[in-house]
Amino acid sequence: MLDQALSHTLNRASRSARARRAVESFPITRKVVDRFVPGETTADAVAATRRLVAGGRSVTIDVLGEDVLDLAGARAMRDAYRDLLTALAESGCAAGADVSLKLSAMGQALPGGTTIATDHAAEIADAAAALGCTLTLDMEDHTTVDSTLAIGAALRVSYPSVGNVLQTNLRRTPADIADLDGTGARIRLVKGAYREPASVALQRKAEVDHAYERAIDALMASDCYPMIATHDPAMLERAVASAVGAGRDADRWEAQMLYGVRPELEQRMIDQDVRMRVYVPFGTDWYGYFMRRLAERPANVAFFLRALARR
Ligand code: FDA
Repeated sequence: MLDQALSHTLNRASRSARARRAVESFPITRKVVDRFVPGETTADAVAATRRLVAGGRSVTIDVLGEDVLDLAGARAMRDAYRDLLTALAESGCAAGADVSLKLSAMGQALPGGTTIATDHAAEIADAAAALGCTLTLDMEDHTTVDSTLAIGAALRVSYPSVGNVLQTNLRRTPADIADLDGTGARIRLVKGAYREPASVALQRKAEVDHAYERAIDALMASDCYPMIATHDPAMLERAVASAVGAGRDADRWEAQMLYGVRPELEQRMIDQDVRMRVYVPFGTDWYGYFMRRLAERPANVAFFLRALARR
């Protein structure tokens, strides 16, 4: 109950400019953020990629930033992704890498935003494809789902490896999986990080978990490429069993986890021959991402407060 209230407060704080200024002004915050965000520069992201690849993982890299306010901001984000791809290629770690991007950072919410975001994402998909990389469109709150799935489908006409994310807290997700079956799309399955109204989303964790299990089975039985993105060992066990049940070889699905959350579980999955990809966020705009990670697991707040107390 207390955890739920704290999680709700943190989710609200993730969208508050005042809370943002307060959290960013703690000198210690940066050290705690380092657990989840390996750095602020492209060079930091490339260095993290090298370490992860040497440890048997692949990566999907996210340039932190959401909700740009104007076209210039959206173009700057597009350029940051292109610079990242160039840096990956120059350092010899582009092959097999994925980039994850939020369409809100590409201008989706601006007037004429669908076209702007589609064009920017297409330019990134084009640069990625030329280097042997792929692109996955993150999913944001429920008001953006129709647009994000439509943009994913439009991009797949020229770049078939463009992936979408589905959130099992949303009531619509079983129908979305059924719609995507037959497209062969790369689909990342997550529980959902945004607080959503009961009209569109399951509210109880047990319901979201149950929906996740059913969605794993549906994706494994489909012709999509399932990317099972969770830190929940029960869901990962289900994925392993479901893949076997569906006759899927180990190279026809993968597990994904966020950087720094459960490295020991990443290793356990690798030891079971599961393909493991780590989501690596980097950049100066880490506030919203960091607060959502705290909201997911209020124990992380204690970790943050302990670090503050040790100052
Ligand atoms: P759950 O929340 O049930 O946690 C299971 C266990 O994992 C916990 O008991 C705890 O031990 C550990 N754990 C989970 N979160 C932790 C944290 N922050 N810190 C420490 N331990 C933690 N969401 C979204 O809405 N849109 C998106 O595009 C994405 N993209 C995305 C990509 C990838 C690769 C991942 C792994 C996740 C996302 N998410 C996301 C986030 C997702 O929706 C969800 O909020 C988190 O993954 C937490 O849910 P779990 O499935 O891990 O389970």
